[in-house]
Amino acid sequence: MSGIFISFEGPDGAGKTTALKTLMPLLQAKTNQEIVLSREPGGSPISEKIRKIILDIHEEEMDPRTEALLYAAARRQHLIDVILPTLQANKIMLSDRFVDSSIAYQGGGREIGMKEVANINDFAIDGHFPDLTIYFDVTPEVGLSRIRKDHEGEMDRLEREAISFHNRVYDSYMKIVKDNPDRIKTINAEQAPKQVVSDALDAIIKKFPNIFNKGE
Ligand code: TMP
Repeated sequence: MSGIFISFEGPDGAGKTTALKTLMPLLQAKTNQEIVLSREPGGSPISEKIRKIILDIHEEEMDPRTEALLYAAARRQHLIDVILPTLQANKIMLSDRFVDSSIAYQGGGREIGMKEVANINDFAIDGHFPDLTIYFDVTPEVGLSRIRKDHEGEMDRLEREAISFHNRVYDSYMKIVKDNPDRIKTINAEQAPKQVVSDALDAIIKKFPNIFNKGE
C-alpha cells in the first residue's frame, strides 16, 4: 500500500468539516498525488445508509452497543469501498473522523469502555490505522455553543446529548491523544478558522515533507 491516510478528529463543533473544505485545495496544490476526502459515519453508499439510522433523532431506543456496532460496521464498509482502494491507488486519503471517534464517543461518552470499543473496531479495521491524525481541540462548552448558533433546530441524535456526555467524550479524546503521541497531532480549534487551517496544513506538511513539496 503506497498512499497515505490522514484522519481528522474532534468533539462536536470543533470545525473540522469546514476546515477540511478549505484545507483540501491547499493541500492538493502542494502535491502531485490525488487527494480523496471522505467522512464517517458514511463515505460510501452502504455506510451513508447506516449513518442515517445512527443519527436519526427518532431512534431514541438505540442500545449503546448496537450504536457502537453500527459505527464499526459503517467503518468497515467505508474502509473496503473507499479507504483501501484509495491507498492502493497511491492517493492520499483524508477522512473526517475514523476509529478514535468510536473510542471517544461510544467507549467514553456512552460508557461502554474504551478498550471494549477498541476491540470491536480492531475487527472492523484489521490493522489499518491512519498514518497521521489531526485532533481539533475544542472544549465541549465552546463546541456546543457553536453548534447551537449554527444549526440548533437540526442537531443530530449525538449532538443532542447532555453536557455530561460531551464532557466524557472530551476526556476520552484527551486520553487517546496522550496515548498516541506519534500518530496524533493536536491543534487549537478555538482559534480563528484561518489559523486552524494553517496549523493543520503545517502539521501535515511537517509529517510528510516529501509528499507535500510542490511550489517550494
Ligand atoms: P459528524 O458531525 O462529524 O458528521 O459526526 C456525526 C456524529 O457521530 C458526531 O456527533 C460524532 C458521532 N460519531 C460517533 O459517535 N462515533 C463514531 O465512530 C463516529 C465516526 C462519529
